[in-house]
Amino acid sequence: MDKFVIEGGGRLSGETEIQSAKNAVLPLLAASVLTDERVEIHKCPRIADVMNMVGILGELGCKTHFEGDTMCIDSADAANHEIPAALAKELRSSVFMLGSVVSRFGRARIAYPGGCDIGLRPIDLHLGGLRRLGVDVAEDGGYIDCSCGRLRGAEVLLDFPSVGATENIILASAKAEGTTVIRNAAKEPEIVDLQNFINRMGGKISGAGTAVIVVEGVKKLHGAAYTPIADRIEAGTFLIACAMCGGEIALKHADPVNIASLLHKLREISCKIWSKNDKIYIESKRRLSPKIVETSPYPGFPTDLQAQMTALACVCEGATVIVENLFETRFKHVPELIRMGADITVRGRSALVRGVPRLHGADVFASDLRGGAALTLAAISAEGLSSVTDLSYIDRGYSSFEYKLRALGARIRRVRV
Ligand code: EPZ
Repeated sequence: MDKFVIEGGGRLSGETEIQSAKNAVLPLLAASVLTDERVEIHKCPRIADVMNMVGILGELGCKTHFEGDTMCIDSADAANHEIPAALAKELRSSVFMLGSVVSRFGRARIAYPGGCDIGLRPIDLHLGGLRRLGVDVAEDGGYIDCSCGRLRGAEVLLDFPSVGATENIILASAKAEGTTVIRNAAKEPEIVDLQNFINRMGGKISGAGTAVIVVEGVKKLHGAAYTPIADRIEAGTFLIACAMCGGEIALKHADPVNIASLLHKLREISCKIWSKNDKIYIESKRRLSPKIVETSPYPGFPTDLQAQMTALACVCEGATVIVENLFETRFKHVPELIRMGADITVRGRSALVRGVPRLHGADVFASDLRGGAALTLAAISAEGLSSVTDLSYIDRGYSSFEYKLRALGARIRRVRV
């Protein structure tokens, strides 16, 4: 197990490059099973979630290898429709392998997916969507068994704009007979990326980024090469780091449109933010409370930046109410922030954060990916020495996190425990 040892204090300055989006790359990897020709995903981040998904592709019989930072996948010999429990438990996004595997083989078997412990994370919308497309779905003993003769296009209305369910239905319907219309679809930029990638493979999808996505089934999809969008959550994490520590940084390959809701909040806090070419610049001198931060589906404030924003609110002047509307238990970073001197009261899905001038160092423990990132930001801005233990969560979603922070001036190093 690894931990960060951090000596807090000091402003941030310099420039860092944003990786490709974890939550775009994962569905693209799932889509690679839809063709028996070679697929190339450029600038593929070597993070644990991606490597686990690549492991799942290998279990299906796909041949995968890196050529530089390009992940190459050849699914010609893929023949296994069963995703091993050990890998499915590791990775929540294993569930949207269902759509592409059942499309490829007519069958799919997967253990109930794992992922971060941030809530119940049911998959009823995934399974309901697949059933609408003609898939027989049996759930027994912690496994899900899917089978179907020919996938048929259908109207699918999602009770909630679930990102994963939207992606699963796109993957399952891309080669179905007829047209599928997904209503109340999730609008995240990562779904637009999936649409663009499948269309480059010869698919006929439109409407991604809006609440109505139309998928015209095609007979065959061919190989393609693609560069995913930048990781808006990584970009937001670094912007919040600068807001907490003070200073001025620039982010390369970050798209301000995809994090407009965060930029709005940071400007409320009195950060100066501008963008030029494909860079976002932030200058932070003072931190006024943003008063309220409510997470909601895109284009609302992203739940994946809630923990980092809660850490920032701890050192803002005044009180902030944080409301987490997406997941039931996504405040596990709060007790750890309190150990660093934060003043936070949680009631259900709301947290009242009363700002303090500065946090102090402490030995804290991460229990999920974005909570771990939030604790790291708190530690680099705090007074004194901290440690952040169990980096396995952070390593799921951030490549070279400590190297990038150190290059911006943070005093942080990784230690084997
Ligand atoms: C994706 O998870 C992301 N993961 C999450 O990022 C992100 O937090 C989430 O979308 C919301 O933006 C990936 O893309 C790999 P959802 P997903 O289905 O698809 C309920 C990170 O840190 N729901 O949009 O699992 C669910 O309970 C991760 O990078 C159902 O009720 O999220 C939740 O309340 C964490 N039934 C809400 O929808 C279902 O069948 C949002 O979940 C599915 C979801």
